[in-house]
Amino acid sequence: MRLVLLGAPGSGKGTQATRLREHLQVPHISTGDLLRAAVAAGTELGMKAKVVMASGNLVSDDIVLGMLEERLLKPDTANGFILDGYPRNLAQANALEKLLEKIRQPVDVAVQLDVNTDLLVERIAGRAKAEGRADDTPEAVRHRLNVYNESTAPVVDFYRNHGSLVHVDGVGGLDDVFNRIIAAISHTHDVG
Ligand code: AP5
Repeated sequence: MRLVLLGAPGSGKGTQATRLREHLQVPHISTGDLLRAAVAAGTELGMKAKVVMASGNLVSDDIVLGMLEERLLKPDTANGFILDGYPRNLAQANALEKLLEKIRQPVDVAVQLDVNTDLLVERIAGRAKAEGRADDTPEAVRHRLNVYNESTAPVVDFYRNHGSLVHVDGVGGLDDVFNRIIAAISHTHDVG
């Protein structure tokens, strides 16, 4: 199963990807996590990404694509993967399509998690208190939501036009949302 998880900041992509990874037995690949790991390790790429991420802007397409390609070429993706946080704009959607064509692993389904803005802000504020993520400040969150609406929302149409999009209501308990995702993707593969 090759699944792309789409949704605004705070919509639950990372939370549900962790559960889907167990259920589908495929790796969870989060470009946000890969970038945060690079920042924590103090690599050159991480140093470049740090300021951009803290402001809520997108890291350059080239940097993220290179990092993603390296990750997707690892052998554990042979049976599929869950992509979280990529693609983030139409250029990334096109680059991903080319890359997956090259490795003959086309996307099976793109899941868009729908959550209203008030709840997104509330969830991220909760995480800010609990974890203190550098880009969970009110200012950066506002900016991330604007970047999402301007750059990332069009990616939903990209997958709709490809016939691989499903919408899932992301409001409710963790199990409820998870069960909705499983039901929504069950037509694509045997998901148990
Ligand atoms: P990234 O890490 O991808 O962050 P994001 O998209 O802003 O998403 P979040 O992690 O905020 O939200 P999520 O949808 O995963 O929700 P979560 O499950 O955590 O990107 C960070 C930055 O990295 C970007 O701004 C950019 O700078 C850079 N970047 C990453 N990818 C890039 C790319 N492709 N190109 C360029 N730059 C890139 O949940 C949020 C909170 O809500 C948690 O506390 C959780 O416990 C809670 N929660 C989740 N579900 C529920 C529920 N059902 N009920 C109650 N609470 C819930």
